[in-house]
Amino acid sequence: MLEAMMKAEVGDDVFAEDPTMNAFEDKMARMFGMEAALFVPSGTMGNQLCIKVLTRPGDEVIIDELGHIFNYETGAASHLSSVQLRPLQGTRGKLPPGLIEQALRPANDWDPRSRVIAVENTTNKGGGACYSESELNAIRDIADKHSLMVHLDGARIWNAITTTGIKPEFFGLIADTLSVCFSKGLGAPVGSMILSTGKNIQMARRYRKMWGGGMRQTGLLAAAADYAVENHWEMLAGDHRRAKQLAEVLAELPSYSIDAQSVESNIVLFDAVDRDVPDILELLKDEGIGMVPFGPKTIRATFHFEVNDTDLQQTIEALKKV
Ligand SMILES: Cc1ncc(COP(=O)(O)O)c(C=O)c1O
Repeated sequence: MLEAMMKAEVGDDVFAEDPTMNAFEDKMARMFGMEAALFVPSGTMGNQLCIKVLTRPGDEVIIDELGHIFNYETGAASHLSSVQLRPLQGTRGKLPPGLIEQALRPANDWDPRSRVIAVENTTNKGGGACYSESELNAIRDIADKHSLMVHLDGARIWNAITTTGIKPEFFGLIADTLSVCFSKGLGAPVGSMILSTGKNIQMARRYRKMWGGGMRQTGLLAAAADYAVENHWEMLAGDHRRAKQLAEVLAELPSYSIDAQSVESNIVLFDAVDRDVPDILELLKDEGIGMVPFGPKTIRATFHFEVNDTDLQQTIEALKKV
């Protein structure tokens, strides 16, 4: 990756003159069947730019109550786009189409305007759950029927594709705006991308600059992200296998509780039965293992390309010891 970065030809991306970035944005847009793409520093900026271009102040964005946009983006949608988020109780972070239809607002002067359905694939707080093609088609149908827009937070779309085998271009048919991240399981140092129509991306480009996200010689980052897509994506299947293995072991240990069948990708959520979560995390940290608290009783373990089979065995031993 470093070699690819060192070889990258660069220019000024604020002027759209970085050839490596321009080529990478084109490549991603083609991959996901979208007209245009824009590189951004983070997944949060990507999601927020998409909400900005899809909405007007006072609009409502329908989202699962576990959604990243609702839980972990500092309430940014209310601040940056003056919209209201409408959290619904779905299943493992996925919005059931029936629930969406029930939540739609009538067109009264006093109602917020239902405008965007925001879905996440895979779901972070939902434990890495993946939407099926038919679930996404049903959501698109509802959006078309009621003139709504669909935003897809695909921070981990690479994992979703690895699990389901859905073709990347399918997501271009489902989403009006799509955000993807290169810096999570794929292992690039920095960066996300939003994909949409040429018009939406042009508008997002302006807001990216306004929000301080216009960067100069970004070809270095494009080269790293492109390397990650080309070389690390295929490694995600190994992460998923390891996640499943961990879940199966945890299911056998009386101190933890987990539905091992629920593990679909690289995220494992499990509960502590007889010890406090902070204690467990501290003891794991002493063994060199990092996990995060995900609720009063819940812990999240996430697999990525720096965690190999030996690390997995070490983790299993540490969890048994704890
Ligand atoms: C589903 C999802 N969307 C968006 C983000 C935000 O990405 P970033 O941390 O790059 O802002 C994350 C981060 O974990 C995420 O899990």
